[in-house]
Amino acid sequence: MHTFKELVADFAERFAIKHFPEAPASLYEPGDYFLSWGGKRIRPVMCLMGNELFADIHPDTYKVATAVELFHNFTLIHDDIMDEAPLRRGMETVHTKYGVNTALLTGDVMLIRSYEYLNQVAPQYLQRILTLFNRTAKEVCEGQQLDIDFEKKENVTLDEYIEMISLKTSVLLAASLEMGAIIGGTSDGNCRHIYSFGKNLGIAFQVQDDYLDAFGDPEKFGKETGGDIRQNKKTFLLLHALEVAAPEQKAELMKLMQQNPPDKVERILAIFRSCQVDVWARDLKEKYLQTALQHLEDIAVMNVRKAPLRELAEFLIQRDY
Ligand code: IPE
Ligand code: IPE
Ligand code: MG
Ligand code: MG
Ligand code: MG
Repeated sequence: MHTFKELVADFAERFAIKHFPEAPASLYEPGDYFLSWGGKRIRPVMCLMGNELFADIHPDTYKVATAVELFHNFTLIHDDIMDEAPLRRGMETVHTKYGVNTALLTGDVMLIRSYEYLNQVAPQYLQRILTLFNRTAKEVCEGQQLDIDFEKKENVTLDEYIEMISLKTSVLLAASLEMGAIIGGTSDGNCRHIYSFGKNLGIAFQVQDDYLDAFGDPEKFGKETGGDIRQNKKTFLLLHALEVAAPEQKAELMKLMQQNPPDKVERILAIFRSCQVDVWARDLKEKYLQTALQHLEDIAVMNVRKAPLRELAEFLIQRDY
């Protein structure tokens, strides 16, 4: 058994190899550039944890973990184009540095590399892994499209927001755990619980991401803050503010979203603060964390084996980066 920290270090070391050929450098160098800046590597670690909850880590789980991390990085490169984000992990985003067309192709080729790693998984696991991976990849696209659709949609409900963030973010965390569990050889019942643990935890994780996008320290967070506000993203912060704000504040919010004045971000942040969105964020995260922990409880395996997953859960919702 390994701790969360040990697994992060183990995976980071194995992942720090070249994943692309040399030429054409104009295509592959941006991929190396993006991968070299790290990231928290939580999804591959979740693959390893899903496996190690039930059995020693199988070599194929490292293949799946690598595929998942490459897939995740592909989604980030394309997400930064969609969100017009200048910074990630404290560095210039790929499209800012190399242009949108190259960023699209760098993402595409990274996705294909991801499938090359999956293709190395032993036949006895491959079909289940691929089925889950592909379903998840389509769901991420669905979530990303809903995220864009909601920018222009008035009256997005909290349920719709939760559904959108489940798709764009939490299903990949859930699937990472389940793919590890599949290779770990556990029962279908345990697979369902570990998936639900990951899905609920993933919702709390995205709630924290949305909170940090508004209130994080840009130095630590590594992304430009206020981006979601600028883009009229329908995060829970905005939904909550629209629900509890006084009528004149609500009118101001609507006006700021339509007119995009230069001081839009600071004025919307002031409204968020006065609506106590931080208290709401804490409650929302807590609710999904508790549901996640109940599913962890329900997994039929010795309690001591669950410690790294509890540690992970704690980290994911308290993080400031
Ligand atoms: C960013 O994911 C995208 C979201 C789903 C919020 P991470 O916060 O895991 O990004 P890195 O890989 O650590 O940079
Ligand atoms: C991203 O959500 C989800 C995916 C990349 C699929 P965000 O747009 O909030 O992620 P960040 O904040 O840019 O990392
Ligand atoms: Mg984004
Ligand atoms: Mg986005
Ligand atoms: Mg975000």
